[in-house]
Amino acid sequence: MSPINKVIVNNQTDINPIWIMRQAGRYLPEFREVRKKNPDFIKLCLNSDLSSEITLQPIKRFDLDAAIIFSDILMLPYGLKQHVEFKKNIGPILGELNLSKISKLDEIDFIEMIHPVYKAINLVSKNNLTKNKSTIGFVGAPWTLLVYMINRQSPKIKLKDGFFDDVFLINRLLTILEKFLKLHIKKQIESGAEIIQIFDSWAGLLEEKMLPNYVYIPTLNLVEYTKSLGVPVICFPRGIKDYKNYCEIVKPSAICIDYEVDPLEILKNIKIPVQGGMDPKILLTDKENIKKEAEKYLDIFKDHPYIFNLGHGVLPETNPSTMDYLVKMVKDY
Ligand code: CP3
Repeated sequence: MSPINKVIVNNQTDINPIWIMRQAGRYLPEFREVRKKNPDFIKLCLNSDLSSEITLQPIKRFDLDAAIIFSDILMLPYGLKQHVEFKKNIGPILGELNLSKISKLDEIDFIEMIHPVYKAINLVSKNNLTKNKSTIGFVGAPWTLLVYMINRQSPKIKLKDGFFDDVFLINRLLTILEKFLKLHIKKQIESGAEIIQIFDSWAGLLEEKMLPNYVYIPTLNLVEYTKSLGVPVICFPRGIKDYKNYCEIVKPSAICIDYEVDPLEILKNIKIPVQGGMDPKILLTDKENIKKEAEKYLDIFKDHPYIFNLGHGVLPETNPSTMDYLVKMVKDY
């Protein structure tokens, strides 16, 4: 069993495995090189040879314990034939949402759209470079996907007015998303994913009374489904204030925390394995400070099953040599 799975499945506390969200990305010159030649992000995600190569880029440089497949949570709406485009300096822009068209899609249509993602997972999990490392597959949580599909761009700080008005649309979409997210999870596992992470990047936008309908219930369904396939599932409900309640209801195998939550509170209130936490901006400071901040998390979770990671994705401005320092520092702790 690879170190991350040992922490999650066996609650092991004597090892400090590490992987970093967005570890394959713009802070790496070799990624920017491939990206320059491939301006269409979706096409790049659908090129199995290139996306598996990008997935392995950080593994070649650093002693990370997981390879997270180079893809995007928005491949799901793409697979449902909603237009998805990534605009430089703006982010994702989605096309018109046509519910009747989406309702007619079946599993074969979806797989036809995104099957190269599964081939990439297969290539990565079979590669010698990932021996004794976990291959991580992922999905966006239903709520976060709903946000992108209805809002049609990043909500940044707020949802567009009237977001919740069309109750029929929202409920139909949640049902459809559940069906295709389960399929997407199953196909990733069949292709070699040994862990699934569920990203709920916009969980923090909701008031508490909305959480059961939009976050807890739909995510719990996916967590139970993933566990039923015998694979651990890490949830990342970014910005949620009450991680304790979330863990008690959704019951993920491990919880990934953001950088706004106090790790001491997490240690006190949460019994399941924990991942992440450190602010990605710390990696833009000096080594002494990085060591101090990373050790804060390692000290707090010394006797708790813990996977080192950041509290959100690594920033594009990060120097690769800083990542090298961090990985070595965590391994030597
Ligand atoms: O290394 C990895 O972590 C694996 C690959 C990965 C990407 N996106 C690649 C990517 C993963 C796990 C994601 C998840 C994702 N995508 C989330 C959840 C995590 C989070 O950041 O909150 C979300 C919300 C998205 C949607 C998305 N994709 C946005 C908002 C953007 C534009 C903003 C940005 O960060 O660039 C993307 C583009 C994207 N996805 C890039 C990468 C490497 C940048 C593409 C580029 O311009 O080169």
